[in-house]
Amino acid sequence: MNWNTLSLLAYVPYSKIPQTCIVEGDKGGYYLGVRIENISYPLTISCLQAACCICLSYGETPKIIYIEHPTHPQIEFWKKEFDCTLISGALTNNIILKEYKEPYITSKIDVLKPLLATAITKNSNFPVSAVLDTNEFSFTGVNIEVSDWSMGLCAERVALSKALASGNIDFSAISVHTLKGEFSSPCGACRQVLKEHLPLSKAKLFHANDTYSEHFINDFLPYNFSSKSLGD
Ligand code: THU
Repeated sequence: MNWNTLSLLAYVPYSKIPQTCIVEGDKGGYYLGVRIENISYPLTISCLQAACCICLSYGETPKIIYIEHPTHPQIEFWKKEFDCTLISGALTNNIILKEYKEPYITSKIDVLKPLLATAITKNSNFPVSAVLDTNEFSFTGVNIEVSDWSMGLCAERVALSKALASGNIDFSAISVHTLKGEFSSPCGACRQVLKEHLPLSKAKLFHANDTYSEHFINDFLPYNFSSKSLGD
């Protein structure tokens, strides 16, 4: 395993500059995060944000950050947030990355409900869970909150970060569940991100009151921002 191979997993159609990192958790898991750009640039998920939020979603606290070039603008934030050590340069061979993909989940709600307990919602106390499907596999996600609200991630984007870091890019559906609230529904930022990765698929919404609805992601974001001049 080396940085060049891992960098192929980054989604960087706009900058063409791949960035990846690995976060080691306090229980010894290794979590890969890749940069996921968005056509609306500020919605881009950094490799550090992805790796740290994924690590936290598995119940581990980030302890060591492995990154090829220690110049990433978010490094200071994440280092300080969890008192992490930084290791830069070539990767050693003893790193075995956490497997994110799960066998295809047929009964979504049976997974979405217990998953809520793993959300980290110190500020909102509003847990959200998500399952992102390919035809063969599923990727779960929960919302993660850290001291800077803008550095956390929604459940949908944790699931997407896991899927892309696993080399999966063809998605068939996303399911979302909230513990509270009237209508479980992806936020505007997630709609923009989902539109970029699974525009023709459905969002399956499992509402807090045990009702269900499904919607085409395309219908969630009419007149969305797009431009052929970006990503050419
Ligand atoms: N949240 C999600 O996880 N998904 C959404 O689509 C809406 C918002 C989370 C983010 C934050 O942790 C909490 O809900 C309150 O905004």
